[in-house]
Amino acid sequence: MTHEIAVIPGDGIGQEVTPAAVDVLEALEIDFEFVEADAGDAVKEETGEALPAETYELAASADATLFGAAGETAADVILPLREAVDSFVNIRPAKAYPGIDAVRPETDLVFLRENTEGVYAGHEDRLTQDVSTLTRVVTESASEQLAEFACDYVAEADDHDGFSIVHKANVMRETDGLFRDTVKDVADENGVETDEVLMDAFATRVCLDPEQFDVVVCPNLAGDVLSDLAAGLVGGLGLLPSANVGPERALFEPVHGTAPDIAGEGVANPAATIISAAMMLEHLGYDEESVAVHEAVEDTLENGPRTPDLGGDASTEDVTQAIIERL
Ligand code: NAI
Ligand code: MG
Repeated sequence: MTHEIAVIPGDGIGQEVTPAAVDVLEALEIDFEFVEADAGDAVKEETGEALPAETYELAASADATLFGAAGETAADVILPLREAVDSFVNIRPAKAYPGIDAVRPETDLVFLRENTEGVYAGHEDRLTQDVSTLTRVVTESASEQLAEFACDYVAEADDHDGFSIVHKANVMRETDGLFRDTVKDVADENGVETDEVLMDAFATRVCLDPEQFDVVVCPNLAGDVLSDLAAGLVGGLGLLPSANVGPERALFEPVHGTAPDIAGEGVANPAATIISAAMMLEHLGYDEESVAVHEAVEDTLENGPRTPDLGGDASTEDVTQAIIERL
């Protein structure tokens, strides 16, 4: 069966790392049909729209989407694209790789971040010159859907015992209270072990000793901030992949942005996007190919060639070819 893959490189280094990931996927000789579409600052300049309707529709109908990054228009692009694939969970693994200079080389975490609500639900108001407000939305249904996904996620892999629920229900009693209670109830019903950590305490504890955590289930903003903190522990943004998963489709993207400081130089690290593509392979059922890509990336990170962000002097192209040769 042919899978249609939407490819949306976007701006800046998105134009460099996304084609690199497509080259790796093409080397696997799977029956994929790649369809490319525009989004971001450049297309906005041309047409007035950061996310053209045909790009949204492509993501909403393709089997999976590979996205690079968008510049100043990132929020106008990525929030609707996540909605196009009906994504309720953002999976963000943060893992330190052998040979990479990480602050905490023992880090191996996966964040399962609620992806639709919380403070990102878009209810902000400017009441007066002096006063602005934000309404935080937490629903039982979204919390339940996330928790059910988390239970399946830990059940499918043998190396996860359960998950940590990270929240701030001691202060946000209604919203995070509902989040915590709902997630905990679903876990209990499924016989999945959980522990609870307040999100501020989590920030300290994960820096001091990341090994005490494994799978972390958290609300939207907490997941955004804490996973970027974990990126710092493992050696930087150039290595972090992510998946936005919905009931039927999913969108895969590196956590990093357009890196304007190095864009156009051909030295962006393609690892985060190629690992995102490996997550896409697993999502589509190509488990063996996914493992092969993960291993080829890890071997290349450990033994080189490496891009300048990791202390090397190789180009995006050199690293991509080295990964393809190892497949
Ligand atoms: P950034 O992630 O683009 O860059 C931060 C630093 O990390 C820079 O020094 C950059 O050179 C480096 N870096 C990032 N990815 C790298 C890679 N693959 N290889 C080597 N070095 C890498 O974040 P920044 O600078 O805050 O944002 C730049 C632009 O990207 C902004 O316009 C922002 O709106 C956008 N952005 C878009 C996102 C998205 O589309 N999902 C996410 C984050 C930022
Ligand atoms: Mg972020």
